[in-house]
Amino acid sequence: MDPGNQAQIDYWNGEVGQRWAENHRALDAVFTPFTRALFDAADLRPGARVLDIGCGAGETTLIAAERVGPSGHVTGADVSEPLLATARTRAAARAPGAAPVAWLRADAQTHAFDAPFDHALSRFGVMFFDDSARAFAQLHRALVGDGRLTFLCWRAMAENPWVALPWATVLPLVPDAAPPPSDAPGPFRFAARERLLPILEGAGFRDIVCAPTDRTMVVGETPEAAAGFVVTRGPVARMLRE
Ligand SMILES: C[S@@+](CC[C@H](N)C(=O)[O-])C[C@H]1O[C@@H](n2cnc3c(N)ncnc32)[C@H](O)[C@@H]1O
Repeated sequence: MDPGNQAQIDYWNGEVGQRWAENHRALDAVFTPFTRALFDAADLRPGARVLDIGCGAGETTLIAAERVGPSGHVTGADVSEPLLATARTRAAARAPGAAPVAWLRADAQTHAFDAPFDHALSRFGVMFFDDSARAFAQLHRALVGDGRLTFLCWRAMAENPWVALPWATVLPLVPDAAPPPSDAPGPFRFAARERLLPILEGAGFRDIVCAPTDRTMVVGETPEAAAGFVVTRGPVARMLRE
């Protein structure tokens, strides 16, 4: 593990990782429209070798395994042991005909992946690197020559009412609260494509398509459930905890 990522490694192995693991089904449900968009864009081919970066509790890893079928292979990589433990458990009930899956506790920024991948993908798992340039270069090296990378990241907080609204509501109650610096590891780090594109190009990626993906995200079926969701995830949760 790279000491540069230690703060994030601690974060995803501590209370936050535990909570994500406990609530993985609810999170998967909330992310469903984005998951569809991710797999539509990725268009995985049967037989492909796939790397899921920051795989968390593994839903996207297991979907990828179904998509590529038994002649493919999928690796789910993450720094979080509680999330990987959940992923391993749910993988036991894998769909018949799915590709074999390997779970790897690894820092994607520094890990030297030994097998080449045809495709790397991520659902909101690539915004947390201490050194994004190094991390994407490492991921580029892990891909075959015509390999592809497909990932989701968040646009600006202002374009995400599930965070902007609770943030504005809670802000007056929390003295000295400030949004995290926009270039620090965190969900909105690549909100500006002007920041992201040079990093990807510098890492060796070409033919980059950056497509806005607007979807309705249902964070709760009742006001109480929605409030519970938004104060326990993301920047508002962090602000309240700190
Ligand atoms: C927002 S969560 C998304 C998890 C999962 N992709 C999902 O959609 O449910 C971000 C994930 O990235 C992982 N992560 C953060 N930094 C990482 C790193 N350097 N290498 C690998 N995984 C990392 C975290 O442990 C966490 O599981």
